[in-house]
Amino acid sequence: MKTKVYDLLNSAEYDSGIHEGSAAIRRGGIVVFPTETVYGLGADAYNAQAAAKVFAAKGRPDDNPLIVHIARPEDIFLAAESVPVDAEKLIKAFMPGPISVILPKNRRIPDEVTAGLPTVAVRCPSRREASDFIAACGVPIAAPSANISHKPSPTMPEHVLTDMMDRADVILTAGRCSVGLESTVVDVISGKACILRPGAISAEMISEVIGRKVENSYEVKGEEAPKAPGMKYAHYKPKAHVVAVHGDPAKAAEYIAVRLSGIAEEGYRNPACAVFRGQDVDCRNKWLYNAPSDADEAANRLFEYLRACDTKDIDIIFVMCEDGAGLWEAYANRLHKAADEMIYL
Ligand code: TXA
Ligand code: MG
Repeated sequence: MKTKVYDLLNSAEYDSGIHEGSAAIRRGGIVVFPTETVYGLGADAYNAQAAAKVFAAKGRPDDNPLIVHIARPEDIFLAAESVPVDAEKLIKAFMPGPISVILPKNRRIPDEVTAGLPTVAVRCPSRREASDFIAACGVPIAAPSANISHKPSPTMPEHVLTDMMDRADVILTAGRCSVGLESTVVDVISGKACILRPGAISAEMISEVIGRKVENSYEVKGEEAPKAPGMKYAHYKPKAHVVAVHGDPAKAAEYIAVRLSGIAEEGYRNPACAVFRGQDVDCRNKWLYNAPSDADEAANRLFEYLRACDTKDIDIIFVMCEDGAGLWEAYANRLHKAADEMIYL
């Protein structure tokens, strides 16, 4: 397949990119598009064959349902059959934004999209490029993250060009995604309110809006079946051995320095580290976070760093992990899925 690529940050390509992308969707094709969280690989959510192409292009297991994207919050009934009261509160408070709300599925959404579930996760992205694209399609868009299954989600144009060139009909790029971690997936319709996947919209923020306790049901224990089917799969794995280092930043930096000094004896040739909170470590491949809020930047850069391991042939990476609420929780959740080793200091 010959993939057409448009850079939506180039004003000369904006209209033609949106036009060609939406035309490809209407023909039953698949299109990569930017959102504020990560890049998505979209198909017409009413077209089972188009959805099947998404699963094939990613190598995604077919028991893992897709999120359905709408252009505006008022389009919710294009994907949902009904909107229970707590869900409506979340839609009012957080859409457009980085949240996916579980709702009873509209009959027009085929089983292939929801992996046979009676529910559908609905998301309304806040990025202008995403809402313009979805609106131009004229149908809701089923879209998982635009990575090959098991790889970290794509947050930059080079990531989608690497994974989806010659697999998607059209790739629309628009620079770096601002959040960098996938949306919060929340279920407030089946009894207890539950976070199925943590993201930028935290349990605390949700609990404040619906006025009741919100549980985390994404840390799957033992043989228990996860409520978001996607959370059971190994994810975000670079080829490198990933070490997540928890604890006080200064102690974590010291621990990493000690491990690095004997890294050749451990059998590794090309180590890397990613540290924040003003810490520095002597390492050839070194990523220091320096944003105004460390949590924002740590979340924003995590997938970029994990992906860089593969392109730079890194064989072990130490990544600092902060225990905290909100975005730190989402960051730790993704890092744990990538980690081969977890150190608690
Ligand atoms: O930020 C995002 O959500 C991105 C962008 C592209 O919007 N999309 C994304 O999709 O991360 P994906 O397919 O990579 O992750 C979807 C997650 C999976 O863990 C899946 O199991 C869960 O949402 N999910 C989807 N529909 C569900 C449903 N009806 N019930 C429970 N979990 C569901
Ligand atoms: Mg994904």
